[in-house]
Amino acid sequence: FCCLRMFLHEITFFHVNDGSSLQSLQIVADPHLGSRDITFGSAVEVWGKLVPSPHQKQNVELQANKITLVGSCNPVSFPFKIKDRHSLEYLRQFPHLRCKTNVFSSLLRLRSEATAAINSFFKNNGFIHIHTPIITSNDCEGGGELFQVEPASRKEDKNQDNPHFFNVPSFLTVSGQLHLEVMAGAFTQVYTFGPTFRAENSQTRRHLAEFYMVEAELAFTESLEDIMKVMENLFKSATSHILSECPEDVELFHKYLAPEQKVCSWFNILNHVNLIFRLSYTEAIDILQDSTKTFTFKPQWGCDLQTEHEKYLVQHCGNIPVFVINYPYDIKPFYARDNQDGPQHTVSAVDLLVPGIGELCGGSLREERLDLLQSRLKQHGFKDSYQWYEELRQFGSVPHGGFGMGFERYLQCVLGVENIKDVIPFPRFSHSCLL
Ligand code: 4AD
Ligand code: MG
Repeated sequence: FCCLRMFLHEITFFHVNDGSSLQSLQIVADPHLGSRDITFGSAVEVWGKLVPSPHQKQNVELQANKITLVGSCNPVSFPFKIKDRHSLEYLRQFPHLRCKTNVFSSLLRLRSEATAAINSFFKNNGFIHIHTPIITSNDCEGGGELFQVEPASRKEDKNQDNPHFFNVPSFLTVSGQLHLEVMAGAFTQVYTFGPTFRAENSQTRRHLAEFYMVEAELAFTESLEDIMKVMENLFKSATSHILSECPEDVELFHKYLAPEQKVCSWFNILNHVNLIFRLSYTEAIDILQDSTKTFTFKPQWGCDLQTEHEKYLVQHCGNIPVFVINYPYDIKPFYARDNQDGPQHTVSAVDLLVPGIGELCGGSLREERLDLLQSRLKQHGFKDSYQWYEELRQFGSVPHGGFGMGFERYLQCVLGVENIKDVIPFPRFSHSCLL
């Protein structure tokens, strides 16, 4: 990908970039080498000699002695112009081309580095990486936001006895948690990091239909504190890794996004990560009810926290990350561990809320007591399909728990990017599946 800087009478300067870093290499060439046909966006092959550069911003430049135009680029129809600073919203229209821009290539390098940092964090802390399945027959979250999976051709095949390819209805996974619970029973500490799918109809700045989730599960865990510690350390470790490995790419985001566009300050988060605040759900509701702010959804004990509530709580605590613990029994999925604490009946569940985004992580202790689990499954009406899950409580069951962190929300949070569609290469959301 090449960027034509200027033409002089005698010498041509242009910049090339292979995507490995933000730094471009300046090419110095005689016009007779054919460089006049090279326009912004062209693909070129250049041979020459690396020499020290007289410019302050670069150590070396390439004195070309052979230039081949490998792929030309029509400057009129190419959607990006060399001098223009295109908005992320504009770039979104070109999912097949936006990776060629500085800002989006920075994002994708950061995404790659963050992926590596997350994998290293788990490896260094004794977790086993499990590939949980993409296709599953369960709805882990019980929210019904499932994409069903059947072969495209099967619907027409009337001779089939069973209407389902797998004999049972099957779906794209909404979470690998239940499969991780299986594995935690054998490996103690496990994690998975892969695509998850939600048929969310909501068009928001923090929801996708396909997103990546980092999920961890720990056996012999009796306290939410143990889960929160892993969440916090994961956040810190990945964040300080990308700051040290990709300072230029992070810096670009700080320059690129105007202060009013940034949902939060990256440095603010890192500086305050040691100060993660803790609130119980009940305290959170009290804070919301005492506020003079008018919420679209009136906060009441028993309601799920809405994004507006989460953002308010973060601001109220000084714009730093906040753990909210012990949510009402009735709003959390069947697997969450009962605190048996009526009359305000809660479960051991925790969400990590962060500035500008709201919920970044969701986790819980899991119900390991068979009788309580069985009555909960019955209450939800899906007892039979979870027989295997009940068996986990019969054959060497231990207290355990875990959490999931939305990877795109993590990137939004550390880079201050307002819209989740700008932190994933090919965003999928309702009414849109480009490419
Ligand atoms: O809170 P959620 O639904 O929790 C679970 O799925 C648990 N089973 C995870 C676990 O305990 N292993 O999702 C976890 C996180 C959320 O906190 C959020 O960051 C992200 O996944 N998330 C989404 N990100 C983008 N688009 C969506 N539609 C998302 N839904 C959840
Ligand atoms: Mg959640």
